[in-house]
Amino acid sequence: MQMIEQRDALIKKWLNEAAQEIREALNHDLEVEVKSRANDLVTQMDRKIEKELVEKINQHFPEDLIVSEEGFGDHVSGKDFDQKTVWFLDPIDGTLNFVLQSENYAVMLAVYEKGIGRQAYIYDVTHDKLYWGIKSKGVYCNDQRLPKMDDLPLEKGLFASNSMFLSNEQVSFNTEITKRAMGVRTMGSAGLESVELVKGSTIAYVSYGLKPWDIAPGLVLIEESGGVVTHFDGSSVNLMNTGPTIMATPKAQKEITELLQ
Ligand code: IPD
Ligand code: CA
Ligand code: CA
Repeated sequence: MQMIEQRDALIKKWLNEAAQEIREALNHDLEVEVKSRANDLVTQMDRKIEKELVEKINQHFPEDLIVSEEGFGDHVSGKDFDQKTVWFLDPIDGTLNFVLQSENYAVMLAVYEKGIGRQAYIYDVTHDKLYWGIKSKGVYCNDQRLPKMDDLPLEKGLFASNSMFLSNEQVSFNTEITKRAMGVRTMGSAGLESVELVKGSTIAYVSYGLKPWDIAPGLVLIEESGGVVTHFDGSSVNLMNTGPTIMATPKAQKEITELLQ
């Protein structure tokens, strides 16, 4: 536990520092570049925050490996993931929101030891709320412990997704899922969608195109809250080989998996 506490204190300090830098950057012009497609953006702040966090992790935990979005991390194999301590880092999750809305984005970190998610952090910078959790020790918003989620079915809550899923013409079953739910929401940040589920504000988040750093923190928080994270066929998520993903209450996950078959 000592190692987890040491990491916990450092991560919270580092995330506060990162959030402060990001808030200050919003007073100046952002340098925005397009990556793989017109709505896949990166700013100088994504790169700066990632570089700084990678340096801090390497300085304090030189043996550990880092999987991160903007290229400052390590190449991590499946074998490394099973045998070592691996950090997952998304410096700004919801970059499109960051650029277009100046809100609804998060800084995210998670630590896995030998494939097991130990601790996770999703910092909602705009609202100055840190959602964090430690395996078997609960999930918190700042200092307040959050209750476990209610295991509600689709018809009792809001269904969340991303545009890649909702605009996919192949997903005709999509209409049945969205019809059954009380409503549909989309936030543009996989991390903040994980938080919505943990808070009980939604009952599911279903998405194509998520990467390991999009899923790893939410996975720890959601499982610790009593929810589940799977692929579309219901199998457990493999962080080294991510694909279409369901994050949900156990009841909603079962329904969605059945509707997706
Ligand atoms: C993206 C966001 C978005 C999701 C995309 C992610 P980024 O992360 O989480 O909600 O739909 O698949 O890539 O690029 O803003 O870190
Ligand atoms: Ca992301
Ligand atoms: Ca990102």
